[in-house]
Amino acid sequence: MSFTFKALVAALCLAGVTAHAQQKPPIKVGFMLPYTGTYASLGQMIESGFKLYVQEQGGKLGGRELQYFKVDDESEPSKATDNVNKLIKRDQVDVLVGTVHSGVALAMARAAKENNTLLIVPNAGADAITGPLCAPNIVRSSFSNWQPGYAAGVIAAQKGHKRAMTITWNYAAGAETVKGFAEAFEKGGGKVLKDLSVPFPNVEFQALLTEIAAQKPDVVFAFFAGGGAVKFVKDYAAAGLNKTVPLVASGFLTDGTLEAQGDSAQGILTALHYADNLDTPRNNAFRKSFALSYKANADVYAVQGYDAAQILAAGLVAVKGDLTQRDALTTAMRKTSVDSPRGKFTLSAAGNPVQDMYIREAKGKYNESRGVAVKALADPARGCKM
Ligand code: BEZ
Repeated sequence: MSFTFKALVAALCLAGVTAHAQQKPPIKVGFMLPYTGTYASLGQMIESGFKLYVQEQGGKLGGRELQYFKVDDESEPSKATDNVNKLIKRDQVDVLVGTVHSGVALAMARAAKENNTLLIVPNAGADAITGPLCAPNIVRSSFSNWQPGYAAGVIAAQKGHKRAMTITWNYAAGAETVKGFAEAFEKGGGKVLKDLSVPFPNVEFQALLTEIAAQKPDVVFAFFAGGGAVKFVKDYAAAGLNKTVPLVASGFLTDGTLEAQGDSAQGILTALHYADNLDTPRNNAFRKSFALSYKANADVYAVQGYDAAQILAAGLVAVKGDLTQRDALTTAMRKTSVDSPRGKFTLSAAGNPVQDMYIREAKGKYNESRGVAVKALADPARGCKM
């Protein structure tokens, strides 16, 4: 080998080694979501939405590939601390994405705070997460429980209803959503006669439906989601109540569930930060892309997963994938304006979406928008000090 040829080979080898050394390992993303139980389909849709956005960016955010870790939280608060520690301590993830159930998410938020792990909440509405537990490393791509409850209260009052009963699962999401409903409904001149509940994830509604039939309120406000929502809406119709006492609900009652609920859900009015038929280029492109990738219709949970990835991307792009620039990363995540299929939104100082709440009507397989019930609704973030 001539001297110049040897020098060239050495230079090429060195360049290769340097390029290899500069290539950073993938960002570790830990999904803690329900993959079994009444919320299983919600968890799957969140994961699909998140991965869809990453796929649309060519598989990288801020120049870094992602490596996924998964834990099935079973929507079980008693296992939540152990489960989240599998991702934080065993897998040493860089960012946690989870979860659906408010009780589980509260434990995740405490662990994320304690360990200073980045947490993006892609569903669970527990008010405390962007209230007393708020922290720079925690943001939400979804809603606070107060938000859809409050918007549903506005709708029920605007419809002229005066006497309401509420029905839900007896845990943070149910109780806080009902509280938001009562706040707006009573401000609008209505009165809540009685709050009814069953333990989560119980679906034995018969005794409570009999009580509703006996009291004959003007309207029933309900919070249920996933498999439990399917059963509740079917039971409500089977009891004949859909003909006598209208339901006004938070949108989870009919989101991702309409095919299974069939006729029993038709015409139900709900409040939520997304509607299937929002006729914008952004929503149309998202729904088309989701349908192509997964052979299924997107729902609100897919949107929230997609937007969780968008928020992470905003941070990673700002620091060019350099996780050591932690303050710049979290600041960029919190300051981003998210170009969401639901419409553009920003995050409040507490890290919760400030967003339009739509009035929707269940029509066929879709939740169709009937307009905006409350524009740019911000959670009051009671108790957040940062
Ligand atoms: C929650 O537990 O926060 C929740 C679960 C399902 C849908 C909406 C909220």
